[in-house]
Amino acid sequence: MLAATRQRFLDDYVKIRHAEGRGSQDAAYYLALPFRDVTGKLQEQWTIRAKSFRYLEKRVLPEIEKGRRGPLRIADLGAGNCWLSYRLALHGHRPIAIDILGDPLDGLAAGRHYQEHASFPRLNAEFDELPLAPASLDLAIYNASIHYSTDYRRTLGEIRRCLRPGGWFVIVDSPVYQRREHGEMMVRERHQQFQKTYGFASDTLRSIEYFDTEMLAELGRDLGIVWKVHRPWYGWQWAMRPWKARWKGKRPPSNFWILAGRFTA
Ligand SMILES: C[S@@+](CC[C@H](N)C(=O)[O-])C[C@H]1O[C@@H](n2cnc3c(N)ncnc32)[C@H](O)[C@@H]1O
Repeated sequence: MLAATRQRFLDDYVKIRHAEGRGSQDAAYYLALPFRDVTGKLQEQWTIRAKSFRYLEKRVLPEIEKGRRGPLRIADLGAGNCWLSYRLALHGHRPIAIDILGDPLDGLAAGRHYQEHASFPRLNAEFDELPLAPASLDLAIYNASIHYSTDYRRTLGEIRRCLRPGGWFVIVDSPVYQRREHGEMMVRERHQQFQKTYGFASDTLRSIEYFDTEMLAELGRDLGIVWKVHRPWYGWQWAMRPWKARWKGKRPPSNFWILAGRFTA
């Protein structure tokens, strides 16, 4: 990625994240994530994120841990403030938090709040060009991050290089649509909303911003990925969203499926 494009993306991204009220000066905020937003500003979002994390912890991780002795070597890709790396370290694993954002409130520098409780390295790097040795990971997790990729083949090709044979990658909290046109509608709506609220569309990077079922099948075929799709239960209100959208004549909302993938070759 060109340095200027990346800087412009980061500047826009940080402006929006700070305006949304993310981050705090208080370590207690970071230590409570994802279960509680002690600032109270984005509790509704964190409630959903906590459900995804609980599912990951209880249903996905045990399957990956099965038959492996000792801690898993895990890349937390697009780690943001590093809350997931912290939680994985508490599980006895060896996470590396990786992000292109160093921001003290919302990026890698916020990971300092965890360092006296659990230690893990923080690396400022692109998930398309990882400074990691081939076959050096058991697991890679993209937590609300892979949809910033501009080319899923390239991003997943890079993680294929870094995973040991039989290793897993897991995609959490990225929007998945049944149909591409609904993903494209969401992207347009989002850019319009940013333009209206902040005066810029936040589209310098041309991120893909979503998955659809056809895309998953194509990626599976082209990269030799076997997908295991998990559909966590987010509660009745969440489950009713498609019906409400239909009733209001709107596009269907995204799903937050957890996508676990393994490369066959
Ligand atoms: C919505 S945040 C999610 C942060 C954190 N994983 C979480 O769950 O709260 C997305 C993160 O992906 C990072 N990101 C976007 N593009 C990236 C890239 N090409 N390489 C590494 N990180 C990237 C952003 O800087 C940001 O911190």
